[in-house]
Amino acid sequence: MRLEGKVCIITGGGSGIGRASALLFAQEGARLVVADKKAASAEAVAAESSRQGAEAIALEVDVANAAAVERMIEKTLEKFGRLDVLVNNAGYGITGSVVETDADAWDALMAVNVRGVFLCSKYAIPAMRRSGGGVIVNTASVVAAVGIANRAAYCASKGAVAALTRAIAIDHVGDGIRCNAVAPVNCWDGWELRKRSRPASCSSPATRAGSPPARS
Ligand SMILES: NC(=O)c1ccc[n+]([C@@H]2O[C@H](COP(=O)([O-])OP(=O)(O)OC[C@H]3O[C@@H](n4cnc5c(N)ncnc54)[C@H](O)[C@@H]3O)[C@@H](O)[C@H]2O)c1
Repeated sequence: MRLEGKVCIITGGGSGIGRASALLFAQEGARLVVADKKAASAEAVAAESSRQGAEAIALEVDVANAAAVERMIEKTLEKFGRLDVLVNNAGYGITGSVVETDADAWDALMAVNVRGVFLCSKYAIPAMRRSGGGVIVNTASVVAAVGIANRAAYCASKGAVAALTRAIAIDHVGDGIRCNAVAPVNCWDGWELRKRSRPASCSSPATRAGSPPARS
């Protein structure tokens, strides 16, 4: 098992890619913190992970809120005594060109998609240092690298996540902390495709959508 005994936080773990990651981590022996702003979703995924034999807790956390994020790290350390892996996955998208995008909606999205990654990393890294190192995985998006129509704020936020990933990786390599980003596209069960019957009309080469495991 590749994550035997590792303490892993997954933000946005209550749904979609975060939930699929939590269940895979559980199979790989991780001890899990499923963090989500939706408490019921986090509880359900923690329970599913426990049924797979993992030690798992659920935390209600808004990743845009510094005090809540700090508490998330404290509760993780109280429960498990260490932190090995942080998956910064919480995020969402809105539609609109720059002209059409409401300024408050832009700020709200940046607060989750970018500030959330910053805050969770800011409070996780000292705990990882004390654990002797760790791994941060940020869920960016293919839109960090290629254009997609009608998603100006979302594209900007994921570009920022990609740049922040590189900055964290360089700053903390000496702490034994690795930081990488993944760039999904067209995963079913996520916001991007809920209202669509076929893969998004971006310049992606993907010919099919990724699908998380069915709910147990
Ligand atoms: N699904 C895709 O095709 C796709 C493609 C590229 C990137 N992504 C990225 O993957 C990540 C997960 O997307 P998904 O499709 O699984 O979406 P999803 O909506 O199924 O899951 C996102 C989860 O994040 C939680 N969340 C939202 N705001 C939060 C906050 N402020 N604090 C804590 N939790 C919060 C939601 O409650 C939800 O459970 C996102 O960052 C998204 O941008 C998804």
